[in-house]
Amino acid sequence: AAGLAGRFPLTPNPEPASESRHREVMAKLAFGVDFTDHMARATWSEERGWHGHRTEAYGPLTLDPAAAVLHYGQEVFEGLKAYRHADGSVWTFRPGFNASRLRASARRLALPELPDEDFVASLASLVAADERWVPSDAGSSLYLRPFMYASESFLGVRPAKEVEYLLIASPVGPYFPDGFQPVSIWVTDRYSRAALGGLGAAKTGGNYAASLLPQQEAAAKGFAQVCFLDAATSTALEELGGMNVFVVDADGSLRTPAITGTILEGGTRSAILDLLRSSGRTVSEGTILLEDLRAQIASGQVTEVFACGTAAVITPIGRLAGEGWDAVVGDGQPGPVTTGLYQELTDVQYGRRPDTRDWMYQL
Ligand code: COI
Repeated sequence: AAGLAGRFPLTPNPEPASESRHREVMAKLAFGVDFTDHMARATWSEERGWHGHRTEAYGPLTLDPAAAVLHYGQEVFEGLKAYRHADGSVWTFRPGFNASRLRASARRLALPELPDEDFVASLASLVAADERWVPSDAGSSLYLRPFMYASESFLGVRPAKEVEYLLIASPVGPYFPDGFQPVSIWVTDRYSRAALGGLGAAKTGGNYAASLLPQQEAAAKGFAQVCFLDAATSTALEELGGMNVFVVDADGSLRTPAITGTILEGGTRSAILDLLRSSGRTVSEGTILLEDLRAQIASGQVTEVFACGTAAVITPIGRLAGEGWDAVVGDGQPGPVTTGLYQELTDVQYGRRPDTRDWMYQL
């Protein structure tokens, strides 16, 4: 990783956060509120391709008011984390997965693909520059947010000929303020997230923008997150505002909605599938009908439900509700399968158990 970092040469921030400011931030970690001293970036133009790779002081961007991203939303992003291990070393989790997903998202948004080596090099460079911002408290990490947007000033509707790639980082605690505690989910039949052929499989701002109003309405009813159903029939579970969902059956097998083109293929989702399959557990990707799920929760055939994502890790879902119905899952408390998976995954990420799958990458 040290060698790769040189691809994004560092110009140190002349005014990094003071020692006391750093201590203050690290003492009370929220999610995505504070940022490190630097950012990595590169520019793409139709004429020159990718150029100008560098790591420089974190700060505001200059954007022409006609920049295409502000008008037509041509942007994609990623999310991954850097973890501090007990010996002080810093690692990230499956960066190749995120690099390739960023390329896939970019293709769908008619943005240029960033080579995987550049993606990984930007992580290595930023973390090398901002190592002091990688927390070591349990459950904390440095959240890495790579993103790319159309910077060309032009109001015609066509793919931009100038694009900016950036990587910023934020020291974070748990995404849900209560940590590993069950959350409640509002299942909306009023809004959908994405339709077949749309942007659902891409990690692009528009999908998250689409989730905001439903999320706000769910929050007003007292729920932590909103869950979307498929756009075509409003009968099958898709995903939450920014995480995938799993269901655990009483016989110990698991189910998750299949990747059909409308949901985002989560890195945590894919890691969980791998962990389950290699441990011999039965897990299926398919259609989960809400009507069936409600009956199965009521009869005790479904014992656990959980959400997963890089930010949320694995979060138990204790209660699901929608218009005219309300269901507590099991006893509403985190179940053994959810808890076990959370332990296993975070043990690998924090270096507490051997990484037998080569998932960890030292930065
Ligand atoms: C993630 O990084 O897990 C996301 O999907 C983004 C957001 C929910 C914080």
